[in-house]
Amino acid sequence: MNPVDPKAVLVTGGAGYIGSHTVKALALAGYDVCVFDNLLAGHREAVERIARAVPARSITLVEGDILDRARVVQALRESRAQAVLHFAALLSVGESVAEPAKYYETNVIGGLTVLSAMAEAGVSRFVFSSTAATFGEPLVTPIDESHPQLPVNPYGETKLVIERALRSLDAATGLRHIVFRYFNAAGADPEGHLGEDHTPEIHLIPRAILAALTGEPLQIFGDDYATPDGMCIRDFVHVTDLAAAHVAGLQRLEAGRPSASYNLGMGAGVSVRDVVSAVERVTGRPVPHTVAARRAGDPSRLVATSSCARTELGWTPRYGDLDTIVSTALAWHQAHPQGYGSPE
Ligand code: UFG
Repeated sequence: MNPVDPKAVLVTGGAGYIGSHTVKALALAGYDVCVFDNLLAGHREAVERIARAVPARSITLVEGDILDRARVVQALRESRAQAVLHFAALLSVGESVAEPAKYYETNVIGGLTVLSAMAEAGVSRFVFSSTAATFGEPLVTPIDESHPQLPVNPYGETKLVIERALRSLDAATGLRHIVFRYFNAAGADPEGHLGEDHTPEIHLIPRAILAALTGEPLQIFGDDYATPDGMCIRDFVHVTDLAAAHVAGLQRLEAGRPSASYNLGMGAGVSVRDVVSAVERVTGRPVPHTVAARRAGDPSRLVATSSCARTELGWTPRYGDLDTIVSTALAWHQAHPQGYGSPE
C-alpha cells in the first residue's frame, strides 16, 4: 500500500488568478501542492513565486491540460493528493456568449474529466470553483445558497452542470465536495507576490486602474439598467479572502463533514460608478470613461449573502473594503506593469 501524505493536494488552474492565491494560502496552511495547469492563461512565474515565498512546502507544477485524463491521473498518483481544488476553466462571460462550445468543452468536459480521473486515482474530496453567474438574474437580493439557479449565459450554465454532477456523484459514489460561488473576485496578494494578470484583461477594477494611469478611457457597459445609477451592481470580494475560504472548505471535508455549497461575497452592492469613484480616490487621478452598449450576458445586480460560509466555515474576510481591494490591485499593477512578465 502506498503511504499517503494527508497534506498533499492537487490544484488545477493553480497558476491562474484565484488559483494561485489559493495555492499560497494552502502552502501557508501546511499543504504540499501540485499545481496542474496548461499555462494558457496561468503563469509559471506565479507558482515559482509561491515556492520562493513558502520554502517549507513542496510546490510543484505539472504542465498539462484537464482534458488529458491520463495526465491528471498520473499527477494525482505522483503527488499523492488527497483532494483536488478545481479552478481550471474559461471565465469570460462575454466570450462564453460568443463561443459557447469552447466553454462546454473546457468547463464541462474538462471538469468531468478531472472527476473521472479522481475516481480512478481514488481521490474523493473536491473543492469546486463555481460562480455567481449560476444564479442569473436575481429573484431576490442578496442571493443566498437556496436562490434558484437560472444562469443567463453559457459560462454560468457550464459551471452549473458541474455543480449538478457533483450532487449526483456524491449520492452515487460518496464524492465529498465543497462548491464556492464567487461573486466578483478582485484585488491582489497584500504581500505583493501575486496579482491579476489576464490577457486580455476584461475585469472592471484592473481596467479602471489602467484608465486612471494611462488616460485611455474605460468603457462602461450600459447605464440604462434598472439600478439607482443605471449601472450594473456587483459584490467585490478580495481574492485573498476567497483563498482563505478554500482552505477552510478543504478542512471541513477533512473533518468528515458532508458536502456543501457556499456563496462568497461581501454582501455590499457596488455599482460600476462606485468602482470608478473608488479608483479615483485611491489613485488620486480621474478615471476617464465613456458609456458603451450593454455587454451581452451581464446580469444587472449580483450581491451575495455569505452567512453560511461565515457560520459553517468560520470565514472572516479581512480585505473586503472596496478601497482596500482597489489599493492592493493598484499596488500590484504599479509594481508589475507587465504583469508576471515584469522584472522583479
Ligand atoms: N464592466 C464595464 N467595463 C469594463 C469591464 C466591466 O463596464 O471594461 C462592467 C461589466 O459590464 C459588469 C461589471 O463591470 O457590469 C463587472 O464586470 P467584470 O467583467 O469585472 O465582472 P463580471 O461581473 O462580468 O464577472 C465576474 C467574473 C465571472 C463571474 C461573475 C459573477 O469574471 O467569472 O463575476 O459575478 F461569473
